[in-house]
Amino acid sequence: MITIDKLIIGFDSALRTLSTPAQTLRPVPGNELPEAEMTDVEKRLSCALMRVNHVGEVCAQALYQGQGLTARNETVQQTLMQAAREETEHLAWTERRIAELGGHKSFLNPLWYGGSFAIGVVAGMLGDKWNLGFLAETEHQVGAHLAGHLEQLPNHDEKSRAIVSQMKIDEASHATMALSYGGAELPLPVKLTMKLGSKLMTHTAYWV
Ligand SMILES: [Fe+2]
Ligand SMILES: [Fe+2]
Repeated sequence: MITIDKLIIGFDSALRTLSTPAQTLRPVPGNELPEAEMTDVEKRLSCALMRVNHVGEVCAQALYQGQGLTARNETVQQTLMQAAREETEHLAWTERRIAELGGHKSFLNPLWYGGSFAIGVVAGMLGDKWNLGFLAETEHQVGAHLAGHLEQLPNHDEKSRAIVSQMKIDEASHATMALSYGGAELPLPVKLTMKLGSKLMTHTAYWV
């Protein structure tokens, strides 16, 4: 059930995601690596890809918050909130890397957050089996998308690559966690719609 407490926590999370620098407990992957010499074109490419990844993490925050708000099972709710905290680290890493590369975060972040939060709320209302299934599928798609970024990022931008590599490992473990709690396999049309939605988001975030 949605309580006032949960709504306040959700509102607080939204404000923190969108307006304050995210915090990380783990060291930033690749922190010890030297900054690579990159051309302007390479730098712009790395920056655009890290902006896309940052938007993905903003969406992850919103999805988890929305899903946690309407999830029926207490254990599932706690697990989703814990996962959201872990995603905050990804948010911090990508945010920091964008700044190092001299770029900016997506101007549309409030829009991405709002849309993803609404989707998360609906997923949670469908029941834990589908909620967790949706989460697992999201994480699988994010993993595939990060693998694509590892192919696109400049080879010598090891700092960005280290961040994306660790995120890919973490997202796979989130998918495994969701399936272990009983997430169901989503119907193909739903998976395809999700892919279409994320394509729209990634293509837009690449530029703005
Ligand atoms: Fe993430
Ligand atoms: Fe994740």
